[in-house]
Parts: sequence; structure tokens; C-alpha cells
Amino acid sequence: SLWASFVPKAQRANQNLQYQLQPQASYKVAVLGAAGGIGQPLALLIKMSPLVSDLHLYDIANVKGVAADISHCNTPSQVRDFTGPSELASALNGVDVVVIPAGVPRKPGMTRDDLFNINAGIVRDLVSAVADNCPDAFIHIISNPVNSTVPIAAEVLKQKGVYDPKKLFGVTTLDVVRANTFVAQKKNLKLIDVDVPVIGGHAGITILPLLSKTKPSVSFSDEEIDQLTVRIQNAGTEVVEAKAGAGSATLSMAYAAARFVESSLRALDGDGDVYECCYVQSELSDLPFFASRVKLGRKGVEAFVTSDLQGLSEYEQKALEALKPELKGSIEKGIGFASKQA
Ligand code: NAD
Ligand code: LMR
Repeated sequence: SLWASFVPKAQRANQNLQYQLQPQASYKVAVLGAAGGIGQPLALLIKMSPLVSDLHLYDIANVKGVAADISHCNTPSQVRDFTGPSELASALNGVDVVVIPAGVPRKPGMTRDDLFNINAGIVRDLVSAVADNCPDAFIHIISNPVNSTVPIAAEVLKQKGVYDPKKLFGVTTLDVVRANTFVAQKKNLKLIDVDVPVIGGHAGITILPLLSKTKPSVSFSDEEIDQLTVRIQNAGTEVVEAKAGAGSATLSMAYAAARFVESSLRALDGDGDVYECCYVQSELSDLPFFASRVKLGRKGVEAFVTSDLQGLSEYEQKALEALKPELKGSIEKGIGFASKQA
């Protein structure tokens, strides 16, 4: 099926066939920032999911038309639109998965951290509403800088007394999608078979693809490792420059976010074979938040795939040490912002 193509075969180690034959449309998903460059195609892809019964589209403007348009697709979910803060609580009522792509994107010459001043407050306010209205939901944070916005979200949820670290995710699926694509291209592999775990964070050198852990097992020259790593780390900038002022990745991001939503819904639905890389509270490194492969279950993160961090190549080990100061700084910046507001 189309949906099977979202998750590479290599990642579905124990193909749960019975599950794949009987999906139930019973989950409510909300997209906050649904009229944006990511929000629109993401809403369309989520509308195609057989697992979704209700799709709530929220934005501060222009969401009515998007919802009317998408609602005409003859797939199971009911689509509703919600505009502005006065309708946010209703948008979140009873929701199982909240996806947040609200906020401004980069222009050429900017880093993701340059978006902090605007997006930090947007994420704080939206997550505060999530805490009040659907505290048990899985929360998927797409808004950049993800390395800081996830710690902000965690602090807000803590302040509200509803923080469940197993259910708060920074979406790094696009890094995996890119790594899989670039490795398959370089090595002439069938894309569906390729899976590369990507750890660390989601900005520049904090994005660390573990090419030594590529499935199927592939050998790379030192030069190939360096070229692929740098390309994966700069892939967001590659798109920002190609769009030349018109924003950053939206379509590939929507694809990646839809894959992460579908994986979350499968996990909620009891599929026992769901693994994704994501940026979460973690004890895998000495940093409080860290992206790595995790097993998703009904209650969120069920286990960490610790083996990914064992037996790293020397190149990966060095890159891991090198990324830590930057990631630590971004985490502290997020926590500092949220604490000041408390
Ligand atoms: P966009 O400007 O096209 O869309 C953003 C949308 O958010 C707009 O419709 C806007 O009205 C809405 N918005 C702004 N403030 C809001 C609020 N308070 N509540 C609800 N909605 C609000 O931007 P985009 O291209 O869709 O990118 C969105 C964000 O996603 C950016 O921060 C970008 O950096 C980030 N991003 C992350 C990844 C990733 O891998 N995690 C990938 C691509 C983009
Ligand atoms: C990406 O990786 O494409 C996003 O984080 C957007 C960006 O600013 O690069």
C-alpha cells in the first residue's frame, strides 16, 4: 500500500501482517500551523491515512479554505477547521496526536537558531494549550529550532504538571528520509531497503547520520562518508538556497512528518514493531535531549535502541563529541527561555 512505503522495509523487522491488513480509522489528529507550507501538504497526507477518524486543522489565518479543499477527498476522516486562539481549545479537544509546524521558516543566510526569537513564543503558547486541552496526546514538534523548541515544550508541560517525556517528540524524520535517499543514490540501492539511523539533534553538525549502521550493510570510503555526512547535515540549507527566499523544505518535510504521524498511530493502535528516530528526553548521552532510534508503543517511547550507539566508527565518535557543546547550548537556551516566562 501507499502507507507501507512510508516506512522502509528494513525498519519493519518483524512484519506484522495481521496488523497491516486491518487498520482502524479511529484516531484524532490536529495540525497546528495547518495553512502553512508544511501544514497544507501534511494535512493532505494525513487525510489519506486509514487510521485517522478526525483531522483538525488549526492556524491563525487562511485555514478555512485549506480544510474545505481537503475535506472533499473521499477518505475516512472528518476534516474541521479552527482559526485563531479562541478556537484553539476546540481544535485540541480529544486529540491523540498533535503536530506543530507553526512558525517562521529560514531564508538564505539564516541559521535555524535565528528563528528562535519568533518561534519560541509560538511553540510555548501552542504547547500550553495542548497541556490544558489534551495532555495525554503525543506531541510532534516540527517548528525550528527543534533543538530548543522541544526543551521549551518540555518546560511548559512541566510547569502545567502534565509532562510525559515519553510523549514529546522533536520530528527528525526528514534527516532519516534524506539519509536514506542520498545513500541509496550513492550506492545504487533500492530505496525501500535502505535505513540509516540519524542521531543527535536537528541543526548543522548536531545532525549525525550513523552510516556505519546503514541497513543493508554497505561499505563506504572515508571520502564517501564525509561527503554523505556533510550533505545530510546541510540538506535543509540546500533547499533554503534553492528556494531563494521563498522558505525552506515543505514537501519533503510533509512527507517525513506524515510518516512519523503514521508510525505514532500504528504504535497507538498496538502494532508492536514501530521504530523511528526522533529527538526526545534521553539518557543515551550526557545531554537531556538527544535524537536516536526508539521503539514506539501505546504510551509513547517504549524503549531506546541502545545498540545504535555501540561500536561507532572513529569518524562518528568524533562527530558525536563535536556536536555536544552546540546541542547543549541550544537545549539550555530553550530551558532558559521557558523558565524566564514561568
Ligand atoms: P510557513 O510560514 O509556510 O507556515 C507556517 C504557518 O504557521 C503559517 O500558516 C502561519 O500562519 C502559522 N502560524 C504562525 N504562528 C502561528 C500560531 N501562533 N499558531 C498557529 N499557527 C501559526 O512555514 P513552513 O515552511 O510551513 O515551516 C514551518 C516551521 O517548520 C518553520 O519553523 C521551519 O523552520 C520548520 N521546519 C522544520 C523541519 C524539521 O525537520 N523539523 C523541516 C522543515 C521546516
Ligand atoms: C530542514 O531541515 O529542512 C528544516 O529544518 C528547515 C530548515 O531551516 O532547514
